[in-house]
Amino acid sequence: MRILEDIRVLDLTQFWFGPYCTMMLADMGAEVIRVEPPWGSVDRLADAYIVGGSSYTFHQLNLNKKGLTLNLKTEEGLAVFKELVPTADIVVQNFRPGTMERLGLGYDVLKELNPRIIYAALSGFGQTGPYTARPSFAPIAEAMSGHSRLTGDGVDVNGPPIEMAQAVGDLAPGLYAAMSIIAAVRHRDRKGEGQMIDVAQLDVMTSMNMAITGYNLSGMLLHELMDKYPMGRGFGGLFKTVDSGYIRLAIFSPRLIDDLREYMDIEEVTEGLIKEKVSGMTRDEAVNYFTAARVPVAPVYNVDDVVKDPHLIERNMFTTVDHENAGPIKVVNFPVKFSETPAYVKSAAPVIGQHNQEVLKTILGYDDEKITALKKANAISE
Ligand SMILES: CC(C)(COP(=O)(O)OP(=O)(O)OC[C@H]1O[C@@H](n2cnc3c(N)ncnc32)[C@H](O)[C@@H]1OP(=O)(O)O)[C@@H](O)C(=O)NCCC(=O)NCCS
Repeated sequence: MRILEDIRVLDLTQFWFGPYCTMMLADMGAEVIRVEPPWGSVDRLADAYIVGGSSYTFHQLNLNKKGLTLNLKTEEGLAVFKELVPTADIVVQNFRPGTMERLGLGYDVLKELNPRIIYAALSGFGQTGPYTARPSFAPIAEAMSGHSRLTGDGVDVNGPPIEMAQAVGDLAPGLYAAMSIIAAVRHRDRKGEGQMIDVAQLDVMTSMNMAITGYNLSGMLLHELMDKYPMGRGFGGLFKTVDSGYIRLAIFSPRLIDDLREYMDIEEVTEGLIKEKVSGMTRDEAVNYFTAARVPVAPVYNVDDVVKDPHLIERNMFTTVDHENAGPIKVVNFPVKFSETPAYVKSAAPVIGQHNQEVLKTILGYDDEKITALKKANAISE
């Protein structure tokens, strides 16, 4: 039994932010019903490389979900969604603030239909405040919370800002949303009341910027602070190896510095000495050397190395699912290991409307006649 198996989620999410949040709930066993318009959600084709009708990101971010099409701009489609709300525990959406209200699905309506509902409204800037109406994607929050400038400063304070790879501005807020939803489930189970959760990408990315408190305390920007106290955290960096690879060292404590000093049999650990040592080794030799010194070290991998790594493979980080149109595809598994209630990837992302019949018949008890009428009204896909 997976830990969230008795939880049902109505998932109105799109792109990365919302789908990542609901995927985590699905991996922990929740029944996540991703609701798309009958013509398919825009993020099915939003990233390059389409396989079996969906982009590679859609395949990864919608694992374990059921697919239901509903045109929420038809009276019939909206009525079906409203019938599902009392059967559900959670509704998640990441539209612009105001979109749900225009559809007639604001929190006041959802709460009326189901006072126990937990409603997570995910957005760029939040449901209140002067910027609330602004649209957003990950780099917007990364830029405004200071991360892009900080990453650039790490390379050259006089150079341009550098953006974080892999849309951390979507994934981290998605993770916060999932955590907050589960906390709200605990409250609902104790007190019987649902609530609305307002998760803004900008707020989350701001909360993940430790340089803010550094600045508040010291009056210095992070690069100024690090220039002044270069050994503040210890010693580390990227080092090039003889085979044109790189390793990463992170020797961020006095004890680790001592261990390395002893292992290398030197008076003081310096960047120059490490550089010299590493420059005569291959990447794998250097990793073995510093592993033997018992200090934190990693090879700098590309994705083709990541998928082959024996440790990740043994830790079950990759799995294969069977997709209705694409056949078997290898995806990344849920990363955390529970001793009693394992969370894992079980099924592929749905094709458009894959679970229409199942959801409408088993949850709402509709018959074939009623389903045909919904198709005729363009409320669901064929
Ligand atoms: C991503 C974003 C910029 C896209 O903006 P957008 O496409 O202009 O607007 P929305 O996403 O709010 O709405 C899309 C439209 O599809 C409609 N729609 C969505 N699901 C539907 C359905 N099942 N049936 C019918 N219509 C549907 C909405 O009603 C809306 O129509 P409207 O513009 O007439 O109100 C915006 O949603 C946003 O800022 N979201 C919050 C931040 C975020 O999550 N960004 C993505 C990070 S990965």
